[in-house]
Amino acid sequence: MERLVDTLGRPVRDLRISVTDRCNFRCVYCMPKEVFGRDYPFLPRTELLTFEEIERLARTFAGLGVEKIRITGGEPLVRRDLETLVGMLAQIDGLDLTLTTNGALLAPKAQALRGAGLKRITISLDSLDDEVFRTMNDVDFPVGRVLDGIDAALAAGLEPVKVNVVVKRGLNEDGILPMARHFRGTGVVLRFIEYMDVGHTNGWRLDDVVPAAEIVAAIGAELPLEPVEPAYRGEVANRWRYVDGSGEIGVISSVTHPFCGDCTRARLSADGKVYTCLFAVQGHDLRALLRDGASDEELSAAIAAVWRARTDRYSELRSAATVDLPKVEMSYIGG
Ligand SMILES: C[S@@+](CC[C@H](N)C(=O)[O-])C[C@H]1O[C@@H](n2cnc3c(N)ncnc32)[C@H](O)[C@@H]1O
Ligand code: SF4
Repeated sequence: MERLVDTLGRPVRDLRISVTDRCNFRCVYCMPKEVFGRDYPFLPRTELLTFEEIERLARTFAGLGVEKIRITGGEPLVRRDLETLVGMLAQIDGLDLTLTTNGALLAPKAQALRGAGLKRITISLDSLDDEVFRTMNDVDFPVGRVLDGIDAALAAGLEPVKVNVVVKRGLNEDGILPMARHFRGTGVVLRFIEYMDVGHTNGWRLDDVVPAAEIVAAIGAELPLEPVEPAYRGEVANRWRYVDGSGEIGVISSVTHPFCGDCTRARLSADGKVYTCLFAVQGHDLRALLRDGASDEELSAAIAAVWRARTDRYSELRSAATVDLPKVEMSYIGG
């Protein structure tokens, strides 16, 4: 098969699948309450892809070169019987399958997810300070229950467990070092993420971004760090290890050092639209093709055509002028 690349020579290697646009949190940087309130028009159930439809698309993407799939959302664990989908996707040969969750519902599910074939997991936790965390998730959810989820993931053997921390200036930056101290030596890999201007509801300003270099310097001043070589092209996290051998961290500098040139990622929304960039405005409707009875070859050709035409490099072009461009929300498209 001819190698599938986009207009900038980038292959398709990763697929993020959003299984729901709903969430049990209202993180201030993602689904602010004022926008995602009681009247917000979330997708009705019939509009969501079924597990069978998701599996079929996942296999088609795998046939085009996708090696890694991340299940995400919204909050993926609010989708009922998610372990059934995990079991279906785990059957796809040679696939690195993982999941990103806020951890709220993880403790009682971790073992079932592992049993269904999930190998590793990423859990989001922005602060160990209960008050700060409750403010950031904005549903008064306590840190302790996310830590229970992390422990359950470790006990179930979902390794490595990664913990995503979105850093927002003035909100949780004081918690960076306590996070590093807490997780060093546990096997958990922290990944600090620069706060991004996704969607158009979070009121993003460049001043709110704590640059990755500042995060590394803050930790390194107390716990010396050295860089780790990237494991593969397109790895988004810049990796650092503690000089004393007690583990590693990653920083994701999508604002200060955009990595569009190496971006090999496609995103599938919960209602079956494929997006070729987190900052894309428009998706391509694969659900319509599925429900119109397209053959496997037709599906594959449609996805390949979308990828071949891909030109996106939003983060490299980001400037004051791009902040106000229309964008879709991360909870819909899949973070
Ligand atoms: C959209 S969430 C979906 C999965 C799950 N609900 C969770 O929170 O892990 C995926 C990741 O995106 C991150 N995220 C959300 N909004 C962001 C923003 N504006 N900038 C940077 N990261 C963001 C979250 O912190 C989370 O780690
Ligand atoms: S970051 Fe995750 S947990 Fe927070 S509101 Fe967005 S989807 Fe929900």
